[in-house]
Amino acid sequence: MRIEAAALSIGGVDTNELAAAYGTPLLALDTDVLDGAVARFAAVAARFDLDVCYAGKALLFVALARRIAPSPLGIDVCSFGELLTVERAGFPAHRIVLHGCGKTDDEIAAAAAGRVGRTVVDHRSELERLGAAASPAHPVSVLLRVNAGIEAHTHAHVRTGGEDSKFGFPAESIAEDIAFTLACPGLRLVGLHSHLGSQIFEIGPFVASVSVLVKAFAAALDAGAPVSQLVLGGGFGVEARPGAATFDLEGALESVVGAVERESRARNIATPRIGIEPGRSIVAESGTSLYRVVATKRHGPRRFAIVDGGIADNPRPALYGAYHHPVLAGRPSDAPPTDFTVCGRSCESDLLVRAPLPGDLRAGDLLALRTTGAYTYSMASNYNRFPKPAVAFAGAGHHRLVVRRERDEEILRYDVDEPAPSALVAKLY
Ligand code: LLP
Repeated sequence: MRIEAAALSIGGVDTNELAAAYGTPLLALDTDVLDGAVARFAAVAARFDLDVCYAGKALLFVALARRIAPSPLGIDVCSFGELLTVERAGFPAHRIVLHGCGKTDDEIAAAAAGRVGRTVVDHRSELERLGAAASPAHPVSVLLRVNAGIEAHTHAHVRTGGEDSKFGFPAESIAEDIAFTLACPGLRLVGLHSHLGSQIFEIGPFVASVSVLVKAFAAALDAGAPVSQLVLGGGFGVEARPGAATFDLEGALESVVGAVERESRARNIATPRIGIEPGRSIVAESGTSLYRVVATKRHGPRRFAIVDGGIADNPRPALYGAYHHPVLAGRPSDAPPTDFTVCGRSCESDLLVRAPLPGDLRAGDLLALRTTGAYTYSMASNYNRFPKPAVAFAGAGHHRLVVRRERDEEILRYDVDEPAPSALVAKLY
């Protein structure tokens, strides 16, 4: 894990320069790290003959989709908004996969119109709606999402397999859903899909899911389905603590691919083409959130640092107890490390992180939180009517804005003006 003691530069650009150019809070993406992650997945795609799609929910904006487009990776979208984003980036439809467990009519219509190459269907009524919308003249390629009943050992909020999970078709009755799909003339069943959860560090759950999935895959072949793809989802863990062991991606994939080959041989079927859809492991490490320290203060033995962001631009610590390593940015310091409680400026105890920081940390300093490329900007809200931060690319000593900061006055843009209180309201007082 590439985590240094201080964040004096990102992508070869001085953090002071980034803060001056774009303000804070800022999500700065080191494009050298980002490109390295994309290249790593391109390499495993070639080595293991995998279909790799980036799960855009981790982080998505037009410039990012444009950056990934020249790579061999496809892209997963899980909403109409994500689809519009990748379309604006010129991402070719055949490399777009549509996800989502509660697709809207617009999303179903987009799939039926061929705006995506494949659609992952979550449940029977979605299958019925897509089947009704799709034209037999232009069949829609679908994968059925199978809930393999495997629980990955990860935070309950990011677990998506197992019987407590809302996702997918139950594996026990998948044969009926396969038969239903085959009876829809507008649908072409090309494969099965599974996703166990996110931030998974053990390979066991993936391997365990393989036997369930290959069994279902063999049943689909038996039923005469033209299936060729088995997508095993994303979820590869990213460790944000300095010095922690990193996830052995290549080793994990070797085990999973081996398991699919073994199970396929045992069932006497050709090995399906395996797909994966990593989100976090592509973007997390490239991201650093830059904040300005608004104040430091002491309550008894505790020292607090309040920064100019918080739960609105990074809800992950509050939601999942996530750790993002903090480092002083903007200036070096030899001051002895002191335990700090870093909080945001929201009107609640929005703890971002507790960690040692230089004891001379003070108002006006820049503070960097590392490994924030995934699920921070994409989960940002306007809580407290804070504007959403800017996103900048920084690499090889150059930087540029890729998503501009929301302006304070834009916070008002959805408010419908009421010229005067209605008579009814006025009467209340
Ligand atoms: N495929 C599907 C169907 C998914 O639902 C997800 C993530 C992925 C792939 C990508 O998983 P990844 O490689 O990024 O772990 N907001 C949470 C994470 C939620 C993940 C949702 N699904 C967080 O901040 O940790």
